[in-house]
Amino acid sequence: MKKLVDKFGRQITYLRLAITDRCNLRCQYCMPAHGIDIVDRKDLLSYKEMYRITRVLSELGVNKVRLTGGEPFVRKDFINFLESLSFNDHLDQINITTNGALISKHISKLEELGINAVNLSLDTLNADKFKQITRRDIFDETMQTLDQLLASELTLKLNVVILPGVNTNEIGDFIALTKNKNIAVRFIEEMPFNGVGLRKTDEVWNLNRIFKEAEKYFTNIIPLDDKKSSTSKNFKIKGYRGTFGIIPAFTRTICGDCNRIRITSTGMFKNCLFDDGVFNIRDFIRNGASDDDLKELFIKTVQQKPINGFVAEANRKNKKVSESMSTIGG
Ligand code: GTP
Ligand code: 5AD
Ligand code: SF4
Repeated sequence: MKKLVDKFGRQITYLRLAITDRCNLRCQYCMPAHGIDIVDRKDLLSYKEMYRITRVLSELGVNKVRLTGGEPFVRKDFINFLESLSFNDHLDQINITTNGALISKHISKLEELGINAVNLSLDTLNADKFKQITRRDIFDETMQTLDQLLASELTLKLNVVILPGVNTNEIGDFIALTKNKNIAVRFIEEMPFNGVGLRKTDEVWNLNRIFKEAEKYFTNIIPLDDKKSSTSKNFKIKGYRGTFGIIPAFTRTICGDCNRIRITSTGMFKNCLFDDGVFNIRDFIRNGASDDDLKELFIKTVQQKPINGFVAEANRKNKKVSESMSTIGG
């Protein structure tokens, strides 16, 4: 079987596929209050196109797919799409990143379909702050979803974007959640993908600073062996049930064994989170490309994957790194 291997020998096995650019929340670190210019429905990849792209990629060695958005559950018929993906036996893992607001009634179906893991975005444990960060008032519902997910068979990770002066004082509380809960809490360095660009702050909260903050509350922190290509550096408090981790999303020290490609909701292929899109698969498909054409293009394009996110950023045509995460798919 032909595989997707870049010129640095990194094999691509993980596809991040954005289902939509729409979202039901307005998180400060992701988009402006008025939202972003959403694309016309006809410009979105159809589920059939997404299914085909995923199948072709899975025949080239992709075995893990993460469905992102925007918020994936906002798009109509998402569950039916998940069902069709679940029939692809090349895929070992189908995972979802979600804000949780629309998922509670679907949890048993997700279990039934064999979805492996849900990464839930939750940046605060305080109702007022939740409203301030997300610009929406659904804290109680999100916490209920968290409890339901904990009670389910799905593997659960919490994604906490670290926002200087907003939730940095909650790092200890989030780690405390791992005492009795089978959960992986991951703190994420904030990136400029918010529709505006890098936010000015007096404090730099990178991996080291986040770890130092954790050390203020806990003395018995055990480093864990990270899975190859893990996005997070992971730890555990001795005797605790869950784990915590830090994702150096902005300082980008994880690029060496990156195994990821991204496809946005409009079909832009991205070799790196920090590039500005390599080519549009949607147009290629709509112009009549065969599966072999697609395979050839994927193999060729992955060759151009930059060595790391800094090189990807430097190579951008549009130098300003400010597109919303909702457009990229996270
Ligand atoms: P797992 O598959 O559970 O390890 O999840 P993940 O970390 O790959 O995905 P998730 O959607 O939960 O992303 C968490 C955070 O990590 C988000 O802020 C992502 O943008 C960031 N992230 C994911 N992949 C990459 C990457 O390739 N590079 C960088 N710099 N950040 C990434
Ligand atoms: N910086 C870091 N992480 C972000 N996310 C969204 N926007 C940003 C940003 N600007 C996170 C979300 C979600 C994941 C896909 O990316 O919280 O958990
Ligand atoms: Fe991979 Fe780019 Fe992320 Fe580095 S910044 S881990 S190369 S996607």
